[in-house]
Amino acid sequence: MSNRSITLTDSLYDYMNDVSLREPPLLLALREETSELTQRSMQISPEQGQFMALLARLIGARRCLEVGVFTGYSSLATALALPDDGRIVACDVSEEWTAVARRYWKRAGVEHKIDLRLAPATETLDDLLAQGRAGTFDFAFIDADKTSYLAYYERTLALLRTGGLVLIDNTLWSGRVADPEVADDDTVALRHFNEVLHRDERVDLSLLPLGDGLTLARKRG
Ligand SMILES: C[S@@+](CC[C@H](N)C(=O)[O-])C[C@H]1O[C@@H](n2cnc3c(N)ncnc32)[C@H](O)[C@@H]1O
Repeated sequence: MSNRSITLTDSLYDYMNDVSLREPPLLLALREETSELTQRSMQISPEQGQFMALLARLIGARRCLEVGVFTGYSSLATALALPDDGRIVACDVSEEWTAVARRYWKRAGVEHKIDLRLAPATETLDDLLAQGRAGTFDFAFIDADKTSYLAYYERTLALLRTGGLVLIDNTLWSGRVADPEVADDDTVALRHFNEVLHRDERVDLSLLPLGDGLTLARKRG
């Protein structure tokens, strides 16, 4: 028993997933295909995908945003949890990686739920704001270039309705955020991001040691 979060050894991590992971076969196939890529570590973990799907269902999400698609694991996990009229505006800049995502969205029968925008995400989010869509999204996931996280967060918060939820990935950054010796641009940006969110009274906040660190921020009224 302890009053701090448990440390996950490899065997405990395996046990946790053995008794709780319910990964749909297509998500498993996507994970296996992505494991052939040198960039495979960019993909979220399966238990994180399952948790995101649970959160989307819990808040009855219909209008979603994703910043950082890669080969589509998080968008597919979320899309599978949405009702048939649910929609995700999915932002990425890579034609090559999102071609894999498109293939899996189609195989899963959810391609009609995903509106892929191939452009720098700040442009896509600014376009949505210019189209009057502030306050209309329920759920968002930020998982792209780390030095732009604050820009994505501010725009996303404006696009969310009161009570809407934004999840931000990699906020523990393999522990580097807590190591004062590490000072590369991504680590410095994530440290600054975490500090800004800690002080941000516009949201309810939780940072979970799930995957590479997942921050949950719920927009207050
Ligand atoms: C960590 S990966 C996303 C992983 C994905 N969420 C998953 O579940 O597999 C980051 C993605 O952000 C994209 N990205 C990088 N810079 C971007 C930008 N300025 N605008 C939009 N997407 C960007 C990359 O092309 C890459 O696909």
